Amino acid sequence: MDVLSRPLTDRTLPLLAEGYAWLPNRMRDAAGSVVRTRIMGRPALALRGPDAVRFFYDERNVHRHRAIPEPVLGTLFGHGAVHTLDGAAHRVRKELFLPLLEPAAVSGLTDHVVAAWDKAVPGWSARDSVVLFDEAATVLTRGVHRWAGIPLDDGDAAATARDMTAMVDGFATAGPRHLRARRARSRQEERLARLVRDVRSGQVTAPAGSVLERVCGHRDADGEPLDEKTAAVELLNVVRPTTALAWFVAFTAHALHRWPGNRAPLADGDVAFATAFAHEVRRFYPFVPFLGGLAARDLFWRGAWVPAGGLVVLDVYGQNHDEALWGDPYAFRPRRFLERPVARDELVPQGGGDPAAGHRCPGEGLTVGLLEALAAQLARMEYTVPEQNLAISLHRVPTLPHSGVVLAGVGRAA
Ligand code: HEM
Repeated sequence: MDVLSRPLTDRTLPLLAEGYAWLPNRMRDAAGSVVRTRIMGRPALALRGPDAVRFFYDERNVHRHRAIPEPVLGTLFGHGAVHTLDGAAHRVRKELFLPLLEPAAVSGLTDHVVAAWDKAVPGWSARDSVVLFDEAATVLTRGVHRWAGIPLDDGDAAATARDMTAMVDGFATAGPRHLRARRARSRQEERLARLVRDVRSGQVTAPAGSVLERVCGHRDADGEPLDEKTAAVELLNVVRPTTALAWFVAFTAHALHRWPGNRAPLADGDVAFATAFAHEVRRFYPFVPFLGGLAARDLFWRGAWVPAGGLVVLDVYGQNHDEALWGDPYAFRPRRFLERPVARDELVPQGGGDPAAGHRCPGEGLTVGLLEALAAQLARMEYTVPEQNLAISLHRVPTLPHSGVVLAGVGRAA
């Protein structure tokens, strides 16, 4: 029986159970880095590799409209978000986010987050121990609000950070985590829609040039301003993923604990090494499992076929651990990024292709800049890592060191 006529068994349940390992496991048994399967009742084609990235990000092949399931929109991205648009509607909405690619945005946001970190450290020192994931989320929430021009009382930062991380934590699961994510999203959308209304009515002034000002004044491809709810959704599409860097901060602490040789060059301010380290954290640790879109027409990829309307899935975690690209993919080795230039579509933890033309994350420069700065902060900080469960389950999406990384004796001599 050939690959085109083989009946397809629905793989939604194994996907939920195997998490990050599901696609890489299927890929191992398949020829040509392509898998044909069935997910959520639809035929699906899963791909990986730089050529597959270019195929996936070509709008003639793959659309996003109606591709993202409601449970993901209702928690992670928000209804009507930029992630769901194609063509001119996407290009015009994406202009809202393109200034995030500028170096001024990276240094502006990094300065605010580092200031919030420095302000928080004495409070960590006053306690016996802290959970780094929670503290980093609060610091990132404070920093991104200040930078984006969104008012936030200091006392509300921890609860707001919990809402931001809940939206990410609950998107890929049913049950209490999912309900928590939905409640967090409605609370935060309501707060920010109210703010947009106040800015537009003149009751609140948005700082000149801020994200808040840009979102309130933006006009979509149809010439209309964003309604309050969609404006809130797009403000959250800046605040939520910045707070989600807490996952990478926890992974950074995990890496510094497991491989302490990385600490000295970060603490010494070796800029090239810091960038390489940030890339290796994003490549090595599991965060985004895969990305999906809908086939715009009948598609063939390396001999495999999916009909128009079928799912096309880019195996992000698998590509970031593909032996053909990385040689020793399961070794944490930042210096691999100093040994050869890495092409645009090889490293894809935040999507691939051109961020200005397609759906690639516009926050990638911010992510790398913040990670460089926060890895250096951690490498210079005194703390101990008490006995705890640092295991990272590949079955849970998104995953985290089980303890959230507990640090003790922060800022005290060992
Ligand atoms: C899109 C990952 C940080 C804003 C995306 C995509 C991924 C991603 C995988 C989807 C790409 C696609 O659909 O093809 C991440 C990760 C981050 C991060 C892992 C670090 C924790 C950020 C930051 C911002 C941001 C800091 C903004 C401040 C966005 C937006 C989109 C996006 C607006 C939608 C782009 C579009 O649909 O055109 N991100 N991101 N992200 N990200 Fe990020």
